[in-house]
Amino acid sequence: MSKDTITITNNRNGKTYDFNILDASVGPSVVDISTFYKETGMFTYDEGYTSTASCKSEITYIDGGAGKLMYRGYDIAYMAKEKTFLDTAYLLVYGELPTKDELDNFALEMQKRSFVHEGVKKLFDAFPDRAHPMAILSAGVSALSTFYYNHLEVNTPQEYKEMANRIIAKIPTLAAFSYRYSNGLPIIYPDLNKGFTENFLNMLRAYPHEYVELKDIEIKALDTIFTLHADHEQNASTTAVRNLASTMAHPYAAISAGIGALWGRSHGGANESVIRQLEMIGTVDRVDEFIAKAKDKNDPFRLMGFGHRVYKNFDPRATILKEIRNELMGELGISSELVEVANKIEKIALSDEYFVSRGLYPNIDFYSGLILQALKIPKEMFAVIFVIGRTPGWIAQWSELHQQKTIKIARPRQLYVGPTERTPKS
Ligand code: ACO
Repeated sequence: MSKDTITITNNRNGKTYDFNILDASVGPSVVDISTFYKETGMFTYDEGYTSTASCKSEITYIDGGAGKLMYRGYDIAYMAKEKTFLDTAYLLVYGELPTKDELDNFALEMQKRSFVHEGVKKLFDAFPDRAHPMAILSAGVSALSTFYYNHLEVNTPQEYKEMANRIIAKIPTLAAFSYRYSNGLPIIYPDLNKGFTENFLNMLRAYPHEYVELKDIEIKALDTIFTLHADHEQNASTTAVRNLASTMAHPYAAISAGIGALWGRSHGGANESVIRQLEMIGTVDRVDEFIAKAKDKNDPFRLMGFGHRVYKNFDPRATILKEIRNELMGELGISSELVEVANKIEKIALSDEYFVSRGLYPNIDFYSGLILQALKIPKEMFAVIFVIGRTPGWIAQWSELHQQKTIKIARPRQLYVGPTERTPKS
């Protein structure tokens, strides 16, 4: 740690204050303002935490300018190309990549723990037809805390392992059930002969007593999507999980809160919006009209799936998914008007001065939307897929917070701008 400080001067009274600068192992340093109020009598103000680090973390690192994303020091391209989602989940949750034996045991545990208590199914019966799967999933995960109430106290590595493996294994089952119940379809139980991702796809697609052929490229594409969504620093849903963790709530209640946050269209709903927009554009001959709308300063229309708040050159996850999209479309021989529309928009955006000069490249949602569409996964399930991928990240973040010697409850301050004290009318 550096002993450097930053000095702040209050021009109202001329007083100066020194605050320590803490260095990151890589990336921007931070100013430690934890004593700011005590020393200055003032709060700091940063709506949306755009300049505020809310925690110390060893899990994920992003360099938006360089288009870099690492899970526990491993580059995302390595994880996506050389490893599976279960390797990634193990890495995030346990801190190291698994050996072959560890991975085999983890995969076996995922299979064995994938069933949910039959009582959980009664909960699904209570929801109306067409209930959104994200709402059902959030309720289902919250309900799991009643079946595993003992996870309220996680004190030993064994207790952590049970809590973590259980939720990672059961989320795909609850996710698939959410879809089946919402559409009035017969539920399909986990198949102990199938791997993690194949099993989920099977629970979505299969019918009782009917064999469904799943192509390797389909399983690989979905597995890669899970890997690429597994963690992304202190985003809104992870912050929700950490906030609940700081109150010592049940870990599955924290995951349920994360699902609620991810449901929002500004977070996990973006790839669904990509497909809705492509459907709205409809035909290739209308693409130019919508490109013009996107470039028009007086038109609020934005091209969904382009641009990113953090990645200003390119999103490394989008680069990987673009390759997978090409492979998948080629192998499945998919051609449709929607794909043609997407291809034309992508081509224009990659060459048009407006998009290039602003760094508005296709983002992860553009390609994941197209891939999930090609996998015949309904749009309302897109955010649910995100949840399956993100669960190991949330668990790792929950655990990191719980391993701190002292846990401070998340309790931000505010700049009060309401009325001063008013005299009640008599
Ligand atoms: N279509 C057209 N123009 C755009 C787009 C877009 N998708 N995105 C940004 N711009 C333009 C803006 O109008 C602005 O132009 P100006 O400099 O002439 O005023 C410039 O590019 C910069 O835009 P900002 O809004 O300042 O960029 P910011 O970083 O705040 O926004 C965001 C990033 C929200 C992702 C934005 O690019 C957007 O709305 N994209 C479409 C929605 C989308 O795909 N969201 C998913 C993001 S990925 C994820 O969340 C996992």
